Amino acid sequence: MNSNTIDSLREALKHSPDNVPLRLLLAENLLALNELQEAEDEFTTLLRYTNELKARIGLAKVFFRKGNFSACNVILEEIVEQGTQDVEILTLHAKALLNENAVSRAVEVYQMALEINPGLSDEELDSQLRITSIYEEEKSSEALDGRFLQKPDVTFADVGGMEAVKKEIELKIIKPLLHADLYKAYGKKVGGGILLYGPPGCGKTFIAKATAGEVNAKFINVSLNDILDMWIGGSERNLHEIFELARHNTPCVLFIDEIDALGASRSDMKQSSGRHLINQFLQELDGIDNNNDGVLILGATNTPWNLDPAFRRPGRFDRIVFVHPPDDASREAILRLKLSNKPIGNIDYAQVAKRIENFSGADIDAIIDIAIELKLESSFADGIPKPIETKDLLEAVKRHKPSTQEWFTTAKNYAMFANASGLYDDILTYLKIKK
Ligand SMILES: Nc1ncnc2c1ncn2[C@@H]1O[C@H](COP(=O)(O)OP(=O)(O)OP(=O)(O)O)[C@@H](O)[C@H]1O
Ligand SMILES: [Mg+2]
Repeated sequence: MNSNTIDSLREALKHSPDNVPLRLLLAENLLALNELQEAEDEFTTLLRYTNELKARIGLAKVFFRKGNFSACNVILEEIVEQGTQDVEILTLHAKALLNENAVSRAVEVYQMALEINPGLSDEELDSQLRITSIYEEEKSSEALDGRFLQKPDVTFADVGGMEAVKKEIELKIIKPLLHADLYKAYGKKVGGGILLYGPPGCGKTFIAKATAGEVNAKFINVSLNDILDMWIGGSERNLHEIFELARHNTPCVLFIDEIDALGASRSDMKQSSGRHLINQFLQELDGIDNNNDGVLILGATNTPWNLDPAFRRPGRFDRIVFVHPPDDASREAILRLKLSNKPIGNIDYAQVAKRIENFSGADIDAIIDIAIELKLESSFADGIPKPIETKDLLEAVKRHKPSTQEWFTTAKNYAMFANASGLYDDILTYLKIKK
């Protein structure tokens, strides 16, 4: 394989440009020579008129080498979904996923490869995914810091509405970090946390990430599902390591997303092991053996009713905040935010906002997406992007059902029949139901 081969392949292609195997050979040779751009061009050309698996794999490999992991994953995801048994592809996909921080999916895909070939051992994946102690790894490399210690670049300005939630976070998290000295003067510890709960897609994760942009402190972002991955290691130990990471990086906001996983673990796992994890979690929150001073906790869940009441004691999640679907003004604000960098014409935001009652932020993302697709179709003819207008958004609204209603059906039951402590009064108020 050398440049002579390439030249002769190109020459041959001139005479039969539609010869798929020939172009494939050229593309693969270019890839082998690490001529990434040229290889990409050839694979892309091929994929314009065939759906040849080898070309898709080749293109994925090019993207991987270029560091474009998300494009690589899009291609491989489809191939894996179609049931590939190719260990090399599964391994590549796992690596690309890992590079995108999709740890639990990477574990899944690597496990698929191991099922096909139990003797398989990939050094990189083994060391990254079968970590015995997260903290040990942290000491030896920056990798863990990179994975969990993040500084997302969204701020409150990117979050439409949600004023009440912003205010709680301001009071309980931002202010204490800003005035740590004042707290010290009064001998008050900076700690404790907020638990955000509510229907899916209404901005819990989003506002938590935006909090990171607001505070001048370290921000650790983990999903309980990542911690719970049995294969990676014991959940209790992982949970401990995460808290340790936070304690070693104060002042620090520790955001634990998808605490619902605790509920799931309680019913799915043996009762005792689930209990064990909950106790570990409570212990970490208290920081009995370890000092939690300077660690602020932000949690999010869809199913607060699965959470042990012990989590709500002072010093643990001492504020429980209901994140409801955006109100009229917030929906308008979110629409404006999301459309601000799109080609738009005249848009009657208030009118659209009125029509999307019960829509979550994620639903609003969805209708904008639909509107854009509709617009794209009509722009193909002349290649000129047509501005999005009110009627496009209203048309999109018709095609999308709000995703928050199911949650309220369940939540309402808890709020009406399991609300002795008044915990869910906010839900009743929102639903305009009197106690
Ligand atoms: N107030 C908002 N302003 C701007 N965008 C929002 C807002 N609320 C939600 N979004 C958009 O909706 C998407 C989904 O929100 P997010 O992931 O935060 O929901 P969630 O409450 O964490 O849902 P889940 O319970 O399913 O985890 C966000 O990525 C964001 O683009
Ligand atoms: Mg979320």
